[in-house]
Amino acid sequence: MESLSTLPIPKDIPLPLPVESYNLQISIIFLFLLHILFVNLMVGGSLFVVVLEWMGIQKPAYDRLARRIAETITVNKSLAVVLGVGPLLVINVLYTIHFYTANALTGVAWLMVVPVVAIAFLLGYAHKYTWDRLAHQKGLHIAIGAGAALLFLIVPLIFLANINLMLFPSRWTQVGGWVSALAIPNVIPRYLHFLLGSVAVAGLFFAGYFTVREFPEDQIDQLLDRPKVRQMFYSIALAATAANFLAGPLLLFTLPAEGLSWKLAGIISCGVVLAFIVILILWKEIIVPQQTSATRFYWMAALLTGTVVLMATGRHVYRESAISQHRLAMAGETLAYTSMVGIANWRISQGLEMEEGGGARSPGEKVFDNVCAVCHALDKRLVGPPLTEIAQTYPNDVAGIIKWVKNPGRKRADYPQMPAITLTESQHQAVAQYILDLVSGKGQEEEKEGE
Ligand code: HEC
Repeated sequence: MESLSTLPIPKDIPLPLPVESYNLQISIIFLFLLHILFVNLMVGGSLFVVVLEWMGIQKPAYDRLARRIAETITVNKSLAVVLGVGPLLVINVLYTIHFYTANALTGVAWLMVVPVVAIAFLLGYAHKYTWDRLAHQKGLHIAIGAGAALLFLIVPLIFLANINLMLFPSRWTQVGGWVSALAIPNVIPRYLHFLLGSVAVAGLFFAGYFTVREFPEDQIDQLLDRPKVRQMFYSIALAATAANFLAGPLLLFTLPAEGLSWKLAGIISCGVVLAFIVILILWKEIIVPQQTSATRFYWMAALLTGTVVLMATGRHVYRESAISQHRLAMAGETLAYTSMVGIANWRISQGLEMEEGGGARSPGEKVFDNVCAVCHALDKRLVGPPLTEIAQTYPNDVAGIIKWVKNPGRKRADYPQMPAITLTESQHQAVAQYILDLVSGKGQEEEKEGE
């Protein structure tokens, strides 16, 4: 991990989360899961349609199959897009500054998501509803379908670049736009992993669709009966899942090490085991295509869902640990900033200089209450360490405390940096003495209370 001090550390928005963080973390995994399943069906389905329609030029049965699939996937497309809103909102709340930064750095491409999705939708509908009209202009019709599929392939690439960039503040000063964000080492392996996952999920879905759904008699060709269709889709699912056993590790090895952990390895391994069982069942389906079983299909769907849940959880665990250090540094920056604003406001309200003496409080106590107390308490941790700890570090050392306050160093890894504080010499002296007296006088005060 690069030293935090060389990274850009923006200030966060000083607002609490609207609900407990773990609620949001569960939501993001769950909402993302719903979204990604439909995205998988949409992306995989769009690709199938193009390829099958193209194969249909030679063998018309494939054309009918392509049409059937095109009819089922429009609803997936709508759901995929609508269900994308949920995770997007939660990401914005959980990773506000990180996500915003990534979006800003890839600005143009990020904004293009909206028109690209809109055009892809229009092309998809045009493709679906011109099947008969363009029956004699197959080239054009296939081109429309391919255009829609291509656009749907670009959107996840834009999104992946952002979601990766967000995790690596060390890249923020190097990246200038989407294309350079794509060069972050693990973006492309991740995309590959996603594409293969889409083909696997869609392959499995359509194999199931042609197992469970009635298939009108007139559509069955000698060439393309149900078991054959099923076998084809199961084979596609098998090939894609097997390929992901290569793409997955590639993705894992290109991830920057700072977020890797045994917990992550455990979660991913469980996902891999489930995927492996799916492969075994798929294999069984493929070698004996006649003995089809809807039960086996549901099992595979359940197992593969399990894999996706585990992978999505692993991805989230990685994300959280990858940015934890940076997030802490940011929280410190934010606290220091808000405290400094508080102090500045107070000093302004006091006419810039504090009056000395007067009233019941000693000058040291006044300065302490007004300036230091935002961050320091007697014996508990606030933004800064407790006074008891300070007194231990500087026993009877007024000068040492003054020196620190005028020019604080960077000492404790789990605290933010203390801002330098400018007071008059006598105020510096008074507050330092006050802190030492307060700590050493603690016992006496308790005795007094006991009287
Ligand atoms: C904005 C918050 C903030 C304010 C205001 C603030 N401090 Fe601190 N202070 C901190 C933090 C955070 C640390 C720990 C920094 C570190 O260890 O790197 C700290 C540490 C210290 C230490 C320990 C230094 C050491 O070497 O152990 C002293 C002494 C100290 N502060 C004195 C003061 C005094 C006196 C004031 C008021 C004049 C004051 N601080 C006001 C945040 C603050």
